[in-house]
Amino acid sequence: MIEFKNISKSFQYNFWDKKFKALDNVSFNINEGELVGFLGANGAGKTTLIKILMEFSRQDSGDVIFSRTMGNTPEKIKSSIGYLPEKAYLYQHLTGKEFLEYTGALYGIPKNELKELIAKWTDRMAIGYAIDRRIHGYSKGMQQRLGFISSLIHRPKVLILDEPLSGLDPLGRRDFKNILKELNNEGITIFFSSHIVPDVEEICNKVIFIEKGKLIYEGSIDELVIKNSNDLYSVKYLSGEKIETIQVNEADKREVLTEMLKNGLNIVEIEKEKPRLEEIIYKIKS
Ligand SMILES: Nc1ncnc2c1ncn2[C@@H]1O[C@H](COP(=O)(O)OP(=O)(O)OP(=O)(O)O)[C@@H](O)[C@H]1O
Ligand SMILES: [Mg+2]
Repeated sequence: MIEFKNISKSFQYNFWDKKFKALDNVSFNINEGELVGFLGANGAGKTTLIKILMEFSRQDSGDVIFSRTMGNTPEKIKSSIGYLPEKAYLYQHLTGKEFLEYTGALYGIPKNELKELIAKWTDRMAIGYAIDRRIHGYSKGMQQRLGFISSLIHRPKVLILDEPLSGLDPLGRRDFKNILKELNNEGITIFFSSHIVPDVEEICNKVIFIEKGKLIYEGSIDELVIKNSNDLYSVKYLSGEKIETIQVNEADKREVLTEMLKNGLNIVEIEKEKPRLEEIIYKIKS
């Protein structure tokens, strides 16, 4: 759906300084229907790449290629994308409602329909109570919620979100993740950046991981986990009133379990050990 092909971008701070490579020959695809997590530490180049995708910034070399399914003119492609920037630029003097009416009108959503959409989403994002207040009085998380609504209100085919979960409280993160999953199930392709691995692991089926401007990994999370898993099982059993855990490998599993049962031990759980994405990423890096 969106193909990044050999994207490089450098910044130069003073003309006598060496150029700093923010993106170094990055290539990967976002395919239709995917929910893709874009991982990387602070300064890895995530926002730089997203800005290139949105054409707010120009790459030094390489191409961003949009599929025909997104539209056959640059305007149609643009309007099939919903975008939430890292720092939302919301018009502070407007009320939340006015702001959404304004963005909705830009997308050409008919008035009646827009009214319903605004009511539905502000309610869903739990800012309905503040919709007639001016934005400058909104908290950081409230602004994030409003920005998120404005990125999806026109039902884009693709959502590009730069750190949508930052600035949210735990409940808000839960809400956002549920909504992302829901929208994805309804067919919207989603690409969002984050540096929080467990959030990405929880909801995404694919990850892109960059470090210092270079692509380190592109692919399915399951594949990565399977490839990096060992053949250890953890067996939990009741010992008095406490639950103890022992680890056994595939080869010894049958024998150990038989022995435990023979000795009357109460086994409560057997689980194949799965490394967490976080651990794998640290391993790939080192
Ligand atoms: N307009 C700019 N001018 C100069 N340097 C820039 C500019 N934009 C980005 N950079 C540099 O490029 C690198 C990547 O920055 P970028 O904002 O893409 O990181 P990021 O992965 O989004 O980080 P974060 O998680 O903190 O948002 C950084 O070293 C940054 O200083
Ligand atoms: Mg960023």
